[in-house]
Amino acid sequence: VYDDSREASVAVAEEIAALIRSKQATGETCVLGLATGSTPTKVYDELVRLHREEGLSFGNVVTFNLDEYYPITPDSLQSYVRFMHEHLFDHVDIPVGNMHIPDGTLPADKVAAYCQEYESKIASFGGLDLQILGIGRTGHIGFNEPGSTLQSRTRLITLDHVTKVDAASDFFGEENVSRKAITMGVGTIMDAERVILMAWGEGKAEIVRRTVEGEASHEIPATFLQNHPNATVILDTAAADQLV
Ligand code: F6R
Repeated sequence: VYDDSREASVAVAEEIAALIRSKQATGETCVLGLATGSTPTKVYDELVRLHREEGLSFGNVVTFNLDEYYPITPDSLQSYVRFMHEHLFDHVDIPVGNMHIPDGTLPADKVAAYCQEYESKIASFGGLDLQILGIGRTGHIGFNEPGSTLQSRTRLITLDHVTKVDAASDFFGEENVSRKAITMGVGTIMDAERVILMAWGEGKAEIVRRTVEGEASHEIPATFLQNHPNATVILDTAAADQLV
């Protein structure tokens, strides 16, 4: 638990930077699982600062984003492709072609095969070294809404009503929010070597308590992380407020 989200985000960025540098030292690729939304933005700000001011290179970094709305075009205001370019990719030296974000433009009959390819591509790099996560008020990680099983893999899902309410302002009204999204599964996330879940602010306090202190269940998919061998929950004081 950190005093504020800025301090917490700097600590997360430092861990990511240390991982990138340690992989560089041994000539290895660093495979990062990335999230969008308001939670990780300060982590990306700090990574950009480390690149600009402290010579952190992303030359050996390969990224896989958790999710993307479906259907959506990459240039839409709400697209996670656009988000990642604006917050990180356009400001660092990650090689073009090293970033992967689920494709929101595919015809419906191509999505299932595409999701399997996304899994195979992650596997082809030896799996995710580190996955960062935010958490939704439903307890979703990625867009694994309540009901998602521990075994779930990358797939097309239907967004929960609460998630659509929370996304309404981004889409200028709940009626405009995508009904669906492509997301890595809980199983995909659980296979990552290291997982960091972040949450800021009082609005997340209740779901953080249920995630950390409740029983592991598909009713709150984030609870499955209790059984991950190397997962850490990073909070500001407001998000930690309801923990016993
Ligand atoms: C985003 C994602 C979601 C968000 C979650 C929290 O890629 O996978 O699980 O992390 O909905 O969103 P924010 O950070 O906007 O509160």
